[in-house]
Amino acid sequence: MSGKLIHLPKLEDPRGNLSFLEEENHIPFKIKRTYWIYDVPGGEIRGSHAFKESQEFIIALSGSFDVILNDGENETQFNLNRSYYGLYIPKLLWRSIENFSTNSLALIVSSIPFDQKDYIRDFDEFKIIKNEIEK
Ligand code: TYD
Repeated sequence: MSGKLIHLPKLEDPRGNLSFLEEENHIPFKIKRTYWIYDVPGGEIRGSHAFKESQEFIIALSGSFDVILNDGENETQFNLNRSYYGLYIPKLLWRSIENFSTNSLALIVSSIPFDQKDYIRDFDEFKIIKNEIEK
């Protein structure tokens, strides 16, 4: 399975717009953790890794950036630049986040608490683990 863009409710209002997300409703998992990436210097790349179990949903709350997903064979690039949609990333996809605009803010909700053991940080190891699991 690859990543999927999910549009969130957007309540347009002359006083300012409002969007929201509910676990197991707009996104297909329960939220166990929320983190955010900000103050990224120009040209930096975050998150070049995969997760064994963690599913994530990434929103560009401010500014823009690209999320590049690789399933071990094919690469797909998503540009996130609005706060009313985000990218759902299932487990076992290699992902990196690049091309952060100045003052961009990436909000990420995750299906598991932080666990260093859930990370796969080597691309070749990622492909081996993925093949093993999908055999
Ligand atoms: P990491 O996920 O490796 O950052 P990136 O892949 O975006 O470059 O996280 C960087 C550091 O922050 C790492 O030491 C682990 C720590 N961390 C937490 O303690 N809790 C968290 O929820 C996250 C995402 C990271």
